[in-house]
Amino acid sequence: MLQSTEISIIVPTYNESKNICGILEHIQKSIPKNLKAETIVVDDNSPDKTAKIAEDYFYSIKEKTDHTINVIKRKAKNGLSSAILNGIQHAAGNTIVVMDSDFSHPPHIIPKMIETLRQTRCDIVIASRYIKGGSIQGWPFKRKLMSKIATGIAKRGLGIQPHDPMSGFFMFKKNIIKGLKFDAIGYKMLLEILVKTKGAKIQEVPYTFTDRQEGASKLGASTVLDYCKSVWKLYKYGRSIKERRISVRFLSKAARFFTVGASGLGVNYLASMLFSLSADMWYIHATMMGIAFSITSNFVLNKYWTFEDKDFSAKRTITQYGKFAGFSSIGALVQLGMVYYLVDEGGISYPISLVLAVAVAAFSNFILNKKWTFKE
Ligand code: GDD
Repeated sequence: MLQSTEISIIVPTYNESKNICGILEHIQKSIPKNLKAETIVVDDNSPDKTAKIAEDYFYSIKEKTDHTINVIKRKAKNGLSSAILNGIQHAAGNTIVVMDSDFSHPPHIIPKMIETLRQTRCDIVIASRYIKGGSIQGWPFKRKLMSKIATGIAKRGLGIQPHDPMSGFFMFKKNIIKGLKFDAIGYKMLLEILVKTKGAKIQEVPYTFTDRQEGASKLGASTVLDYCKSVWKLYKYGRSIKERRISVRFLSKAARFFTVGASGLGVNYLASMLFSLSADMWYIHATMMGIAFSITSNFVLNKYWTFEDKDFSAKRTITQYGKFAGFSSIGALVQLGMVYYLVDEGGISYPISLVLAVAVAAFSNFILNKKWTFKE
């Protein structure tokens, strides 16, 4: 039976002719035998023919393995994150691993990452240099400092929790990025994924980053600029999401408040009629009872449902009730005053004046109660 691909390992390359065959072999050996896997090499037209070497390597082992190697040949050097994104778009597996091709990310950590993903049922596993058991070997002080500063900016500026959001070695379930749009600027693909999948369950496993023995890092001044650009964009993204959430929350509360208000009209009418008919009450008294009943039912529904305030302790509830009744009375006065002004002074017809006055009174009532009664 043909097994479908479960895991796709994405390996971006630029001038990695000395590393590519070795890393492909190690990856292949590290993947548990019961998993159907593919490796996707994303090469940016490396002058040292990395792509061709990777393809030739695959042809030489093809007959002896189930592990597929796909080589994506891009026309120009478009950057690391963009290469990773391209790899993800071509991936057949529902679990994605992203790693460097220069042995700085040890493939033998992959089984531990797979196990963590399965056992903890998390969405993202980060191979981390900055948790207990993790470390960096071979980097000069300047590079370590840069990495620490970049990590600090991401954690404080973007509110990112994991210890190593700058890691280039990570694994995630492909479905968590479904429908998301990525800018894929510079080197920090993981950071963008973390910001845009907030709420995803994350685990970190320690590893030792070992600086490359062959070839050279492609990180330069432009990478630092790209990082700043990317952090700024992600910061704006986070803010716009937060603002959108706040306005959705505001609108949903307002909708609940007005629904409760409408139900109050029904309660008012029913209670007034009941008191006047069954208790044989003077109609003015019956109307007053109707008003008291509707204020009370509106209060209970708004406390419990609209503002989801589940604290029904006596002192708090009585104070809130007093404020709510006070603001309701102010609302009634606003409505009366407005109707009088619009009809008498403005010459606007009564039905239109009434609609406007009810809308203004209900809205100001909502704002006052939100701010003062239920202190949102
Ligand atoms: N396709 C493609 N296009 N691949 C690229 C490009 C590019 O423009 N730039 C770099 N790569 C590939 C390299 O060939 C290598 O496999 C991997 O991306 C990492 O590139 P390096 O330039 O060696 O990165 P580094 O070692 O200096 O930076 C490391 O540290 C960062 C954490 O601080 C990497 O591990 C990063 O992934 C990591 O984020």
